[in-house]
Amino acid sequence: MGLALILPLIPVAETKHPALEGFLYQDLCLRVAQGVAMTGDMGDHMTVQEILEAYPQDPRHLLAALQDIQAEYNYLSVESMKEVAEYLGVPESQVFSVATFYKALSLVPLGKKVIKVCAGTACHIRGAPRLVEAVEEALGIKDGETTADGQFTLQTVNCVGACAMAPVVVVNERVYGKMGIAKIPELIETEREDEAEE
Ligand code: FES
Repeated sequence: MGLALILPLIPVAETKHPALEGFLYQDLCLRVAQGVAMTGDMGDHMTVQEILEAYPQDPRHLLAALQDIQAEYNYLSVESMKEVAEYLGVPESQVFSVATFYKALSLVPLGKKVIKVCAGTACHIRGAPRLVEAVEEALGIKDGETTADGQFTLQTVNCVGACAMAPVVVVNERVYGKMGIAKIPELIETEREDEAEE
C-alpha cells in the first residue's frame, strides 16, 4: 500500500483538540518527505538516538519523534521520553503530557498487531459497536487491552478516513473494509498466520 493511501488512515490526528489536527498532519507529511520509517517492523531496533537524529533539534518535532519511537518499540518508555526531552530541548513534563494525550501513543507495550475498530459516524451506524464486541469476544479482551500473549491490542478509534468502506477495521497498516461480525474470526486468523510467517 502506497504512502499516499496510508496517510489518511493513520490516526495521528486523533485528539480532543481538532485545532491541532492541521499541524499534526503537516508534521506527519514532513516525516514522510524525510523518508522516516513508519512501520513497527524494521528488523533490529533502531536506537532512540538514531530515531531522533532524523529530526532537527526543534520542539515542533516532538509528536513525530514520539510516534516513531512508538512505532519502533510499541510503547514509550520513561527512558525514551527523557531522551526525547533532552534532544528536542523540551521539558520532560511536556513530553509526558503529549505521550499521555494521544491515543496512538502508549506508555505500556501494545500488541504486535493493533486492531483498530473505527467508531466514526459512518462506521458506527453500519455496526462498529458489534464489531468491537465480536473482537472482544474472539480475543477475550476489552477495548484498550492487550492479549496475554502480546499478539493483539484492541482499540476503538475515530474516523480513519475510509468511510466509503464502512465499517472499517485497521490492523497495523492493513485495512479491512465493509466488515461484518462474521468476518472477525477470519480476520484474526489471517493476522495470526501473518504474524507467524514474519
Ligand atoms: S467513520 Fe469509519 S472510516 Fe470514516
